[in-house]
Amino acid sequence: MMQDVTAPTSNILTQYAAPPACTLVIFGGGGDLTKRLLVPSLYDLAESQTLPQTFSLIGVDRTAMESGTWRDGLRQMIESFTQDPDAEFSATSIDDAAWGRLFANARYIAGDFTQPALFETLRDALGDGNAIFYLAVPARFFGGIVTRLGEAGLLAEQEGGAFRRVVIEKPFGHDLASARELDATLLHQGREAQFYRIDHFLGKETVQSIMALRFANGMFEPVWRQEYIDHIQITAAETVGVEQRGAFYEVTGALRDMVPNHLFTILCMIAMEPPNILTPEAVREEKAKLLQAIRVLAPEDYVRGQYTAGSINGADVPGYREEPNVSPDSTTETYAAMKLHIDNWRWGGVPFYLRTGKRMQARQTEIAIFFKQAPHRLFANAPSHGLTNIVRLLIDPVHGIQMHFDVKKPGPGIDLASVYNSFRYDDFFPKTANVGYETLLYDCMAGDPMLFQRSDAIEEAWRIVDDVLKQEKSQPEPYAAGTLGPKDADDLLARDGRAWLPVGDQRRRTAEA
Ligand code: BG6
Repeated sequence: MMQDVTAPTSNILTQYAAPPACTLVIFGGGGDLTKRLLVPSLYDLAESQTLPQTFSLIGVDRTAMESGTWRDGLRQMIESFTQDPDAEFSATSIDDAAWGRLFANARYIAGDFTQPALFETLRDALGDGNAIFYLAVPARFFGGIVTRLGEAGLLAEQEGGAFRRVVIEKPFGHDLASARELDATLLHQGREAQFYRIDHFLGKETVQSIMALRFANGMFEPVWRQEYIDHIQITAAETVGVEQRGAFYEVTGALRDMVPNHLFTILCMIAMEPPNILTPEAVREEKAKLLQAIRVLAPEDYVRGQYTAGSINGADVPGYREEPNVSPDSTTETYAAMKLHIDNWRWGGVPFYLRTGKRMQARQTEIAIFFKQAPHRLFANAPSHGLTNIVRLLIDPVHGIQMHFDVKKPGPGIDLASVYNSFRYDDFFPKTANVGYETLLYDCMAGDPMLFQRSDAIEEAWRIVDDVLKQEKSQPEPYAAGTLGPKDADDLLARDGRAWLPVGDQRRRTAEA
């Protein structure tokens, strides 16, 4: 959701009115996603008065539990986040009134997602009111749950026009065929407009702000094209390993986990054409068109790597093959890099280099737009040092924008130095309460699908990834944990006379000279 930020506000969401009354049913109500992200985000909405005036929460899961026990467990968890400086949740204490609003009509229902009995209980609990079903469960349950929701009449238009929506987490399928199959299952039970396929990168303020930067300012759009741009790099580097998700990651890998969803979401924001109007369909149409224009990838333009033991921030960490629930001879990639071409008038001839990896030297998510150098170098005897003519859109951990350019170095003679201008959200706006799901939950309650994925865009993304998977070399190239990824990835750019931007320098503030 884009918004007009003219005055600092303690919480950006306070600018919004509460959406209509509804019940949110979370399948996987006892799970990790609910505890770490959904309930903290719902709490932020309650705190900023942007939950519906009449709101009910229902947690559904397999484990038998009293509603009170469920609620108390969540409270304990959220209290612990307030004491944890590393938690994404920013509140330092819990406001009882806000917590009360969130849990006023809350209940927990124990049941088996695969059995119709649970859905009958839900039908009785919901009556004919507005409802959102949030599938915070492993992907293998998505199709079955939607089928049983449909069969129980829970997705049908209700009398009086009450809405029924379903939020589906990623991964949406594991290739084009399975994504199509899942889409067919959904559309057999409901209408496209009822399904909200989530990509949490679109909940990040800095990702949404790319549209504002491009389309609210007259100075960027004229140069946002092949005449002026040399190439674009998109990086999502993480320091974490696979944590406790070995079993999931073994069959997923970095390519499926990050590229068709998060990295392509960013790519669309950067490269899509300006929509004529800011409506969900107009924006989603432009994103789908952009993905359609991505050229089939050449085998040499894809690199996969796997981390071996190493050290991150001074601490020794094991290699991927030593992680829990990972095969000792696994060939799953924990790093993926690729060069893409977008075959349209705006981007013809401009390579887009994408990379993502676990256990890299530093956490850094960003987009770097490299502009072409000046056509005639007047300062031929005073070469530029370092990074220059780059706009960097910083997504994590720093939120902001940097513009790198050359200046004359102080002193006699003419020598050039690279410097940058830096905008940081923190310098202009108070920190907002944003775990990342607030906007997305709010938009779903308000019926705004702009930040959710339409089926055609998901299918286009899988088309490209399927193509990569067909060409995949069997062994990923090893890279030591705590480094910048495999050497093949450097070669990918070196072949074109280019190099990746350093990772871990978002906070640096010295001139390069
Ligand atoms: C998730 C992936 O979707 O995104 C994870 O499954 C990854 O593997 C995470 O760590 C990254 O998200 P963020 O917001 O921490 O950058």
